[in-house]
Amino acid sequence: MENHEVVIVSAVRTPIGKFGGALKDFRSIDLGALVIKECLRRVGVGPEEVEEVNYGLSVLLEAGLETDIPGRQATLFAGFPPESISLTVNRACCSSLSALRLGYRAIRSGEIDVAMAVGSDNMGRAPHVAPDARWGKRLGHMTLTDPLFALGYPDFAPVARDAGEVAVEQGVSRQEQDEWAVRSHELYFQAHRQGKLALGEELMAVDVLQKKGPAVAFVQDESPREGTTVEQLGKLPTIYGSPTVTAGNAPGLCTGSTCLLMMSAKKAKAMGLTPLATILSSVATATDARLIATIPAPTIVKAVEKAGRKLEDMSLIEINEAFAAMPLVSTKLLAAGDSRRLEELRAKTNVNGGSIAMGHPVGATALRITMTAMYQLRRRGGGYGVAAICGGLAQGEGIVIKV
Ligand SMILES: CC(C)(COP(=O)(O)OP(=O)(O)OC[C@H]1O[C@@H](n2cnc3c(N)ncnc32)[C@H](O)[C@@H]1OP(=O)(O)O)[C@@H](O)C(=O)NCCC(=O)NCCS
Repeated sequence: MENHEVVIVSAVRTPIGKFGGALKDFRSIDLGALVIKECLRRVGVGPEEVEEVNYGLSVLLEAGLETDIPGRQATLFAGFPPESISLTVNRACCSSLSALRLGYRAIRSGEIDVAMAVGSDNMGRAPHVAPDARWGKRLGHMTLTDPLFALGYPDFAPVARDAGEVAVEQGVSRQEQDEWAVRSHELYFQAHRQGKLALGEELMAVDVLQKKGPAVAFVQDESPREGTTVEQLGKLPTIYGSPTVTAGNAPGLCTGSTCLLMMSAKKAKAMGLTPLATILSSVATATDARLIATIPAPTIVKAVEKAGRKLEDMSLIEINEAFAAMPLVSTKLLAAGDSRRLEELRAKTNVNGGSIAMGHPVGATALRITMTAMYQLRRRGGGYGVAAICGGLAQGEGIVIKV
């Protein structure tokens, strides 16, 4: 397999827009095309070199306003030739890592040498839905539903409720979740002050057209709130019947896109490209829908085992802050009752803040946590990192990288 080692050669994301913020009118496919172009531009690779593009998203209704095949449309907008191969993938918040996993497998198997993974969502552009409108209603009220309201699955409990209840069962209090949320904002601003969120690494600028005058470059995540305190968060009401989850210890409903280019190591060498990281494993998991807050833990165990490493080898851990409950519950499960281990694990987790501060454009985030870990490992001069995310009725996706 040595010959089929898979390396990341380029990875980029847009800044994350908040609900109703600077990116609110962007179609997710257009943002997808922007990150695809920038990801290739940075390394001087032409679209014709990319043998397959797997394109992840979660908010189907938003993309569905334009197309049933967002991957195909975004790649064509990005200047790919008509012969290019693309696939749209939806595994909810896991989607962009699922997209990576497909390309990773194809390169590992020796079938192809170059694959791209993309994630793109504009949650705030999801339309209200009028299911009765097509055939009319003989008698009674017409209903208009909001797919963003409760953000879950009507046949199941709201995700915020499941996550909050399971957190309490695992001994993770509302107070701890609020403290984790404050940590997310503080670490984000610390990273920002240290120049870790400058354009050119994970971040690219997006030009936003204005009603009048020239376009304005959107260069910074919009959701982080400096000066967030536990006292402020403690006053917020819980949402959707959750015992602990609030607007303060959850991310918002965001907009953003991510893109990553990977190759066989031999292809990267042949093209004279410097690998940013090597992918050691890419895994998928799932469990009972109610246990969504726990799934990052077994996902990390599986990804680390598959990489032939130990959890202790990981110098960085990214666990997506779908809510604060996810990193708190999952690190607790990984520590298995050892309080010192728990402290060590949490100290290595989301060291530059997470989705609570940064925002969580659901279908794009899995690649965001991957590149956040990768660029941080590079700043440190190397090491192993693991990233895990939960999504859609307790599915999981995880990756181990080496820099
Ligand atoms: C939680 C949610 C419903 C809130 O939506 P919203 O009401 O539009 O959110 P807002 O940003 O207006 O925040 C609500 C309130 O909390 C306050 N708040 C939020 N974050 C805060 C912070 N860090 N510090 C202080 N106050 C904060 C806001 O100021 C606002 O207060 P106000 O009503 O007095 O103005 C929405 O963001 C959501 O659904 N998030 C979850 C997304 C999700 O589930 N993702 C996937 C996970 S699987």
